[in-house]
Amino acid sequence: MRLNDDLIASDIGAYLEAHENKSLLRFITCGSVDDGKSTLIGRLLYDSKMIFEDQLAALENDSKKVGTQGEGIDFALLVDGLAAEREQGITIDVAYRFFATPNRKFIVADTPGHEQYTRNMATGASTADAAILMIDARKGILTQTRRHSFIASLLGIKHLVLAVNKMDLVGYNQDVFDDIVADYRTFAEGLPGKVNIQPIPLSALAGTNMTERSPETPWYEGPSLIEYLETVEIEAEDTARPFRLPVQWVNRPNLDFRGFAGQISSGAVRPGDRVRSLPSGRETTITRIVTAGGDLDEAVAGQSVTLTFADEIDTSRGDMIVSADQPAEVSDQFQVHLLWMSEQALLPGRRYILKAGAKTVTATVNAPKHGIDVNTLAETPARAAELNQIVVTTLSLDQPIPFDPYKDNRETGGFILIDRQSNDTVALGLIDFALRRASNIHWQAIDISRDALAEQKGQRPAVLWFTGLSGSGKSTIANALQKRLFAYGRHTFILDGDNVRHGLNRDLGFTDADRVENIRRVANVARLMSDAGLITLVSFISPFRAERQLARSLMPEGEFIEIHVDTPIEIAESRDVKGLYKKARAGEIRNFTGIDSPYEPPRNAEIRISTADRTAEDAAEEIFTYLETHGFLSVWDGPGSGI
Ligand code: ADX
Repeated sequence: MRLNDDLIASDIGAYLEAHENKSLLRFITCGSVDDGKSTLIGRLLYDSKMIFEDQLAALENDSKKVGTQGEGIDFALLVDGLAAEREQGITIDVAYRFFATPNRKFIVADTPGHEQYTRNMATGASTADAAILMIDARKGILTQTRRHSFIASLLGIKHLVLAVNKMDLVGYNQDVFDDIVADYRTFAEGLPGKVNIQPIPLSALAGTNMTERSPETPWYEGPSLIEYLETVEIEAEDTARPFRLPVQWVNRPNLDFRGFAGQISSGAVRPGDRVRSLPSGRETTITRIVTAGGDLDEAVAGQSVTLTFADEIDTSRGDMIVSADQPAEVSDQFQVHLLWMSEQALLPGRRYILKAGAKTVTATVNAPKHGIDVNTLAETPARAAELNQIVVTTLSLDQPIPFDPYKDNRETGGFILIDRQSNDTVALGLIDFALRRASNIHWQAIDISRDALAEQKGQRPAVLWFTGLSGSGKSTIANALQKRLFAYGRHTFILDGDNVRHGLNRDLGFTDADRVENIRRVANVARLMSDAGLITLVSFISPFRAERQLARSLMPEGEFIEIHVDTPIEIAESRDVKGLYKKARAGEIRNFTGIDSPYEPPRNAEIRISTADRTAEDAAEEIFTYLETHGFLSVWDGPGSGI
C-alpha cells in the first residue's frame, strides 16, 4: 500500500508531467531539528533552481524578518513551511517537495526528527528509494540515527546516505568523519534489509560537497550529494513484477458496462492478460483498459485505470486484481512487524481496524512475540507495544485479505491499524507471512480429533482422486489445481504415482497384484492425510475399479472425489512425454496400461475431464469450481457448521 499517495497525488501530477522523461528518485531525509536537515533540503531546492518565484520572494521577506545573516536567505525557512511550525521551531508533518536537475527529478519527503514523529518518517519511507540520514559531525551517531536507519531498512529502502553535516565546525577533519563512518558501518551490519551506504562529509550551510566536490575535503573521493542523488540506481518500476491492482471502486454507469477502478500498485497489465480476483480466486481475461484519455494497450504501476473483464465475475471494492500466473496470497492470520505510533499502548486482544490497500477489516492483535531494540538491533521482551516501539506479533482478521509479504512487495504487504474509537492511526504494519488458521480450539478436549485438526486449518478435508492412463494429464492438472488451492490459502498435498513409487512403494512393479497393493497403500496414506486435515490430491493410474472403490470406502461420505482424466489412448500415446508408449509398443516394457494391461474407466466419477481441447489450468478451474460449489472452499467451522 502506498501510504502517502493521497497526500501527494494532487501536487505531483503537474510536476511530473513537466519532467516526464527523466527518472524519478524518491527519498527521505531523517534527522534531528538541529542537524541542519532543513538547510540541506533548502539548498538542494535552491541550487536546483526549482524554487518558484513567489516562494522565493516570500522567503526573502521571511529571512529579513527573522534577521538571518550571510547570503540573506535562510534555507531552513524555505522548508519549515507553515508559520505555526516555525513558531514552535520544529517541522511537524511529512512535507513532500519536488525538484529536478537536468538529469533527474526528485520527490523528497521531509520528515521531522522528534521521537514522537517516527510515524511521519515511516510514512515517508514506505515509498522512498533512498534515505539521507543527517548526522551532526560534532555529535556522531545518535539513537535517533539508529532508529531511522532501522525503520528505513525495515521499510525496504536500499540506499542510505550518511550525511555527516557541519563538517566546517570540526575543521573538515577526516578523522572525525572516518570515526563516524566506522561506527555506523558496525551498527548497520545488523539492519534487517540489505543496504548500500554512502557516507558524504558536508556542510549544508556552506555548500560543501553539495553540488560539487569541495576543496575543503581533499581527502574525500566520493560524489557530492547531488551527484550521488542523480546517479544512485533506482529499482526501476519493474513491469516484470507481478501485476496488482487494489479495486477502489466498481464503476457501473449502465447495464452494459462494468469496470473495476484503482491505481496499479505493481507490475503491468494488457488487454488479453489472464487475471484473478482475490479473495474469491475467480479468473478471467482483461478486455479493456479504460482511462479518461481513451483506452490503453498497456498500463503500469502508478497509473489509475478502469479494467473490464471478459467474464462476469464477482469483484468488489477492496478486492485485488492480480496476475493469474503470479497471484497474491489470501489469508486471515499473519505474523507482522508493527511500528507502534500511538500514545495509547497496544492492547493485545483488542480489535482494531486494519486497512490494507482499499480493504478495511477488523483485526485482533495478539500479544507481541518480542520487541526490537533499535540501538542494538537485539530482540527484547515486549508485553505490549508503546509509542515508537517496533514489535513482532501475530494478528487475526474477521475475513481473509489478499496480500504479498512486505519483503516481496511494499505496496501489497503493508497496512495501517486504526483505533476504532478515536479513528487515529496507531500502527504501521508489515506482513511477514500468513499463519495457519487456529480458531475454535477446544481446550477441554483430551484428544485432538480429526475434526479439530481440520477445523484448525479452516478447511474441509477431501481426497481428490485422479485416475486415467499414463500421459493422460493427471499430474499436470493436479499440479495446476494445487497451485490454485495454495494461492487460495488451502492446505494441500499431492501423492503422485511416479514419486510414491520411488519411496514407500519402491518394492512394487506393474503386475496386477502389485497395482492392487500400490493403490491399497496409497489409499490408506490419502486417508491419513485427510485425517490430518489436508486436501489430498492423488494422481495414480489406478486402473482397477475395485481399488478405487476401496479408496472411496476409506473416506467419510462426500469427501472422496473421483476425477476421471479421460484422455483417449491415441492422444496419450501421441504425447508420449516419457517415451514409455514407444517402449511398450516395442515390447521393451510389459504390462503397460492400455496396451497389455487393462484400464477400467470409472462409471460414476464425480468429475470427468476430457483433456483433448483444453489446458490443464482450465481443467483445474473446473475442479476448483466443483469444490467451491460443494462447500469445500468456504471457511469451515467444524462438522456442526452445516456444510
Ligand atoms: S498404477 O497402475 O499402479 O496406478 P502408477 O500411477 O502408480 O500406476 O504409476 C504409473 C506410472 O508408472 C506411469 O505414469 C509411468 O510413468 C510409469 N510406468 C512404468 N511402467 C509402467 C507400466 N507397465 N504401466 C503403467 N505405467 C508404467
